[in-house]
This record gives sequence, C-alpha cells and structure tokens, in this order.
Amino acid sequence: MLARLWRGPFLLAAVLAMAASGCDSSSPERPALVTVPVPQGFAPLPVPPQNPLYADRVALGERLFFDPVLSRDRTVSCGSCHLPELSFSDGRQRSVGVGGATGLRNAPSLLNVAYRKSLFWDGGALFLESQALVPLEDPHEMDLAPEAALERLREHPEYPVLFERAFDGDGPSVQTLTYALAAYQRTLVSAPVAFDRYRAGDTSALSPEARDGLALFQTHCSACHAGAQLTTDGFENNGTSVTDDDPGRERITFASGDRGTFRVPSLRAVARTAPYFHDGRFQTLEAVVAHYDEGGDGTPGQSPRVRPLRLSSGEKAALVAFLQTLDDRPAAVDRSPTR
Ligand code: HEC
Ligand code: HEC
Repeated sequence: MLARLWRGPFLLAAVLAMAASGCDSSSPERPALVTVPVPQGFAPLPVPPQNPLYADRVALGERLFFDPVLSRDRTVSCGSCHLPELSFSDGRQRSVGVGGATGLRNAPSLLNVAYRKSLFWDGGALFLESQALVPLEDPHEMDLAPEAALERLREHPEYPVLFERAFDGDGPSVQTLTYALAAYQRTLVSAPVAFDRYRAGDTSALSPEARDGLALFQTHCSACHAGAQLTTDGFENNGTSVTDDDPGRERITFASGDRGTFRVPSLRAVARTAPYFHDGRFQTLEAVVAHYDEGGDGTPGQSPRVRPLRLSSGEKAALVAFLQTLDDRPAAVDRSPTR
C-alpha cells in the first residue's frame, strides 16, 4: 500500500498512520489517511467529512481511474482523457471516447480539482462525488450505464474485496464507486513552483522576463485569474465566440446573460495543458495571449476587462514566460498502475 502511494508523483506525500484505530474500535485496522502537502498560499485541502482520504480508498480510486473496465468496450478509462504527464488533461482539442466518439469540449486538467467551487467548463456539476457518473454514462466518453459498471466490478476477481476494505464492508455501489474516484482525485494537487516561492517573498525565483510578465498579468489578467489558484472560480465571458451547440453556462442556467460565459480556469501547469479554452481552439499560449491582446472576439456580453491591450512583442513574450513558470513537473511522470 505505502509503496503504491509513494510511486505517485503527485502524492509526494506523507502517508501518515493516523490514530485511526483510536477513532473506531469496531475496525481496529481502519487504515492510514493520506495527507497531501499543498503549496504555500493554498487553503488547506478541502475534504468532505463523509469521504475521508483513507489510503486504501485513494488507492482503489486510483486503480478505478485507470481501469478501462469502466467503459462499454473496455478501451477507455478516466486516465485516457486525464493523463498524469499532461497534468491530467489529454492534449487533444476535444476528447475522444469509446468508438472514437468526439465530445464537444476540451478535457481540463484535474490538478487541484479538490479546490474547484464547481466542476466542468460551465459549472454543471458541484461535487466530485456525483461528477463521475457523467463521463461514465456519456456516449462520447465511457458510455456505460452505472448498473453495468457495478455488475462488472462485482464479478471482478479483486474489486469486491478492495471495496469492502475501503468502505467498511460495503461492496461496489454507485456511492462507493464515485466516492473512491473522488478521494483519489482530491490528492491531485500541484507541487510548489517558482511562482509560489516568489509569492512567499523570494524575488529571485522568477527570471526578470517572467517578473515583467507577472506585472502585466497582475494588470490585465488577475482580476479573473486570481490568487494562488490563478482563478476566482467565477464565470466570465472572456470574448470567446460560441455556437448554439455549446453556449457555455447558459446550458446550465438557461439565462441568456450567461451565454458565452465559462468557469475561469486555474492556470496551474498551463504550459502542459494545451490546447486551450473550452473547445481547445488555441494550440499555444502565444495564441491565447494574442486573443487577449486583440481584445477578444468582441462577443455579446464580453467582459469589459477583456479589451485591446496593444502589447509589444516583448511584453507578449514576457506574459508567456510568466505562464510557463506555473508548470509543475520538469518531466513526464507515470502514475499508471502496473497491478
Ligand atoms: C473521453 C474523454 C474523457 C473521459 C473518458 C473522462 N473524462 Fe473527465 N472530462 C473530459 C472532458 C471533455 C471534460 C470537460 C467536460 C465539460 O466541461 O463539459 C471533463 C471534465 C472532468 C472533470 C471536471 C474538472 C473541472 O475542473 O471542472 C472531472 C472531475 C473529471 N472529468 C473526472 C473524470 C473521471 C472521474 C472520469 C472517469 C470516470 C473521467 N473524467 C473520464 C473528458 C473525459
Ligand atoms: C474577464 C475574465 C478574464 C480575464 C481578464 C482573463 N481571462 Fe483568461 N480565461 C477566462 C475564461 C472565462 C477562460 C475560459 C474561456 C473558454 O474556455 O472559452 C480563460 C482561459 C484562459 C486560458 C486557457 C486555460 C485553459 O486551460 O484552457 C489562459 C492561458 C488564459 N485565460 C490566460 C489569460 C491571460 C494571460 C490573461 C490576461 C492577458 C487573461 N487570461 C485574462 C477569463 C479571463
């Protein structure tokens, strides 16, 4: 168990044997809780009391996350579209599910997903514990009814025991499946980066060019991409043109004023989560910066904060240099389970 968790690069983690036995005398073997270190400036990791980060629950969630058994034709796992080495995004403009079905949207990074106030580009889900049913059933993703998924897990040679251990005797159910996936995903937290050291007072952590970029960022961007998470988690129209197929948050609220608004993404690890925007329309950070420099597409309802900036080419390069310092990992990492 410990070895398994340590192998995960995002769990740089101390796996602490917490005094679980003292809490619950009926199960003296109540396993360790995972503690996930978070960068300075982050709030403590939000973990709902109903779903503690028990190490065996996190490990089960990790295994399920990478297991294609949860898709109709057994070819697609959550990890097919949320790849560890791409900070849990997939590098595609739009995601491809079972049978090559293409969805409408770009797969967002799951890094720091525990901190999101709502989920999906339009905030269409509120809790990790309920979110997982969406990709499971979506015909463009895994295309498997929950009952069918549970049947496979119940018939599996190993899963029933793993569920029972992680959930005090409960086997695979909609609740235990989604709780395990949620517990694992909460452990996907950024490692500290140069930006964090800079925020903590070490000015030499950023190069002079990146510091120039940060100053521009603070002037033009940080009203929406704010704080250590680089997002307010609010919904904004940043001048991205939309179609009726995907009107943004209007899809959820039916309010015409929400047409073309999307949740402001965190920019942590943004250098490895291309392509960008809800529909993956931009391949590079240079193209994103050009979008803002031009003042967006001038779409109806566009935020007044997005307006022509007329930056010099050096300033645009500085902004990109700053965004690159938010990267998390120097090299590709492998979290895919070998078991
Ligand atoms: C076929 C590719 C694909 C598969 C498979 C897939 N996802 Fe996703 N995931 C996406 C896309 C695309 C989005 C964005 C959808 C949207 O915003 O409407 C997304 C969004 C999410 C989000 C919201 C993140 C955020 O910041 O809002 C979570 C959490 C998530 N997926 C978890 C999972 C889990 C758990 C599984 C497996 C049960 C899974 N995904 C399977 C493509 C995929
Ligand atoms: C009015 C709020 C707002 C401002 C100001 C703003 N952004 Fe954004 N940003 C957003 C929203 C909303 C999205 C998602 C748009 C979409 O998906 O269509 C976004 C997306 C991005 C992305 C893509 C992230 C991804 O994962 O796809 C990057 C990079 C980015 N912004 C950088 C910047 C920079 C650099 C500036 C300043 C020049 C800036 N933003 C200013 C709201 C804003």
